[in-house]
Amino acid sequence: MSDRYLVTGGARLVGEVVVGGAKNSVLKLMAAALLAEGRTVLTNAPEIADVPLMADVLRGLGATVEITGDTVVIDSPAEPEYHADFDAVKQFRASVCVLGPLMARCKRAVVALPGGDAIGSRPLDMHQAGLRALGARSSIEHGCVVAEADSLHGAEIALGFPSVGATENILMAAVLADGVTTIENAAREPEIVDLCEMLQQMGAVIDGAGTPTLTVTGVQALHPTTHHVVGDRIVAGTWGTAAAMTRGDITVRGIDPEHLRLVLKKFEDAGARVDRFDDGFRVVQEKRPVAVNTATLPFPGYPTDLQPMAIGLATISDGLSVVTENVFEARFRFVEELVRLGADARTDGHHAVIRGVDALSSAPVWSSDIRAGVGLVLAGLVADGVTEVHDIEHIDRGYPDFENQLRTLGGTIERVRD
Ligand code: UD1
Repeated sequence: MSDRYLVTGGARLVGEVVVGGAKNSVLKLMAAALLAEGRTVLTNAPEIADVPLMADVLRGLGATVEITGDTVVIDSPAEPEYHADFDAVKQFRASVCVLGPLMARCKRAVVALPGGDAIGSRPLDMHQAGLRALGARSSIEHGCVVAEADSLHGAEIALGFPSVGATENILMAAVLADGVTTIENAAREPEIVDLCEMLQQMGAVIDGAGTPTLTVTGVQALHPTTHHVVGDRIVAGTWGTAAAMTRGDITVRGIDPEHLRLVLKKFEDAGARVDRFDDGFRVVQEKRPVAVNTATLPFPGYPTDLQPMAIGLATISDGLSVVTENVFEARFRFVEELVRLGADARTDGHHAVIRGVDALSSAPVWSSDIRAGVGLVLAGLVADGVTEVHDIEHIDRGYPDFENQLRTLGGTIERVRD
């Protein structure tokens, strides 16, 4: 049995929230700590369920990990184990990011094929092709990615798609390889830039962070560092959407608004007033939102992780919205749940077509992944009555202190332990 939320609709959310470090950054930074023997310290780490899970993966590889509030201290051994245990890894997808560091340090890695969100097939072919280009042999054996190399050498690698995970693994393998590696069509997400900055602090030589071409000059060894995790733009964008949907007024601190440039522009297109600050933004929505079209794309495009929020907003906007998913093919599963809440929405291939209704109507609904779960809570906030959102352990994986933050803004939410 898992917990569920009871969400009462009708409140206008007003107030300020501070977001912590990005889930999609901290897990990779924790893996990067394996690249240098000794004590790495991460500050501004989000207090979410995936962080202790990642700590278990690292402990299985011989590291000591302590988590105190938003600080994670990782002591990496001189010789890490190379086999990431199935029980630790199967629980979440991001664990696959230990592949690159293990190849760099041990020239050998066995990492169980991860589980994770039900948002579409998530192959590792680009991760493996990248490692092969660096001189490794790699195969899938008995449910694990297996890779080994006599030595790793620089290579020219062109990705068929700017995959976040493949860019990270190749980058982390290349920092200790012999010679120069270029990654063309590399991912440009702020979390990639954050990883590059931490690796540079550790002594890595990387050019082009935040551009489509990364150039990595391998070095002999890296040293540990202290690093502040970049703010979570997806959590921040979620709160912005909550303001737009509830005709609220929310100030979000703790992130660079440039990381949400397109998302904030969409709020304005929907009729919101958006103020931008050095460390955040404010979204004020006075009237019913106007329908806008959205297409997800790799950064700097509209993030796929906010696609459920775009659809949620569309369900109560004035007019017809088309939301196109270009990154994960099965990410529309939660649209059926929104229909249960009275949304007028249908999907066709990778498009969702939504005609806004005046109000949603409460019903029991089920979360299929982190972002869909939160999308359903936001929908519950604009439905009449009390919406029951089931399977909320997904939300715990990505949103620290979610229900308290929501209450601070004036929302009514209760967690029921079954
Ligand atoms: C990361 C994020 C996830 C986000 C996604 C896209 C983490 C923990 N997760 O996931 O929240 O939604 O980026 O911004 O950081 N692909 C292949 N072959 C590969 C690798 C990827 O075909 O070897 C495909 C995937 O199936 C998907 C697309 O490429 O269709 C993008 O995936 P990718 O950018 O790699 O996402 P993740 O790193 O898994």
